[in-house]
Amino acid sequence: MRRAVCPGSFDPVTLGHLDIIGRSAALYDEVLVAVGLNASKQRMFSFSERTDMLREVTSAWSNVSVTSFDGLIVDFCKQNDVQVIVKGLRAISDFDYELQMAQMNHGLQGVETMFMTTNPLYSFLSSSLVKEVATYGGDVSNLVPDVVHQRLLARVREQS
Ligand code: PNS
Repeated sequence: MRRAVCPGSFDPVTLGHLDIIGRSAALYDEVLVAVGLNASKQRMFSFSERTDMLREVTSAWSNVSVTSFDGLIVDFCKQNDVQVIVKGLRAISDFDYELQMAQMNHGLQGVETMFMTTNPLYSFLSSSLVKEVATYGGDVSNLVPDVVHQRLLARVREQS
């Protein structure tokens, strides 16, 4: 059984994330989408809102499940018998930090990282940009799943 993890903050999940999750689901027997609990960062969506949205938008893949992790991703991998961390690479600017993390994670626990090149449609896309554009009234409807778009609009309304 080949089991992979797609870790991240998913605040909120974008079509770029979904593209990587779906392609991972085609390559591995099981894919765990793991939401980092790191409480020190300011989030637009709570942990349960982020996981609810992820569960909804990944429900079509029977081998994808949504879970959480706290602490080191390699400890999560060992505890859950995960052999591979899948990371999307949008541009060369992602590479430096991702390479460091991949080498650290391999050194710590021998966990492999597989870099998947992002669909060029989403190479400029990040959750942070989506939140910023939505906050100032820009149209992000083609960048996030519909359920996320509706929640973003509602959150922006609440915050204004
Ligand atoms: O969506 P993000 O914020 O880019 O996700 C980053 C995340 C959560 C995948 C990354 O920060 C991570 O793996 N954090 C877990 C803590 C950890 O293992 N740190 C050491 C990495 S070498």
